[in-house]
Amino acid sequence: MRRSWHAATLGLLFLINPEPGGAAESEAGRALLEKNCGRCHALAPGTPSPLSQAPNLWIVLRSYPSERLEFELSEGIGSRHKDMPQIQFSSEEIQKIEDYLAKE
Ligand code: HEC
Repeated sequence: MRRSWHAATLGLLFLINPEPGGAAESEAGRALLEKNCGRCHALAPGTPSPLSQAPNLWIVLRSYPSERLEFELSEGIGSRHKDMPQIQFSSEEIQKIEDYLAKE
């Protein structure tokens, strides 16, 4: 009896206090990428990009060390592709994008 109470309490604590960077943030990060980059780039593992020359961002951005990712997202990622917009994300937006990319 004691033991199951203990488990229930732990479960409750987890519900009340979810880890930072929860599902809502990572969903928001994905939506940001979807809106700004999704018409050319694939954003999820194993999906082809709408524009065949554009690399899958899930793979490319996750391969960047976090300092570089933050730098690129805040400065507007450079590209040889003339149509690619130079979007500068705010630090709040970058946090959300990182939460999305950190997801398994
Ligand atoms: C109009 C289409 C288009 C849009 C929109 C677009 N890209 Fe790209 N992007 C490309 C193409 C094509 C390439 C591959 C050729 C190149 O590097 O220029 C590319 C390459 C990249 C690369 C690899 C650069 C490298 O040095 O290897 C990154 C990272 C990238 N894009 C990020 C983004 C992000 C982040 C967004 C949204 C803010 C975005 N792109 C929006 C077309 C696009």
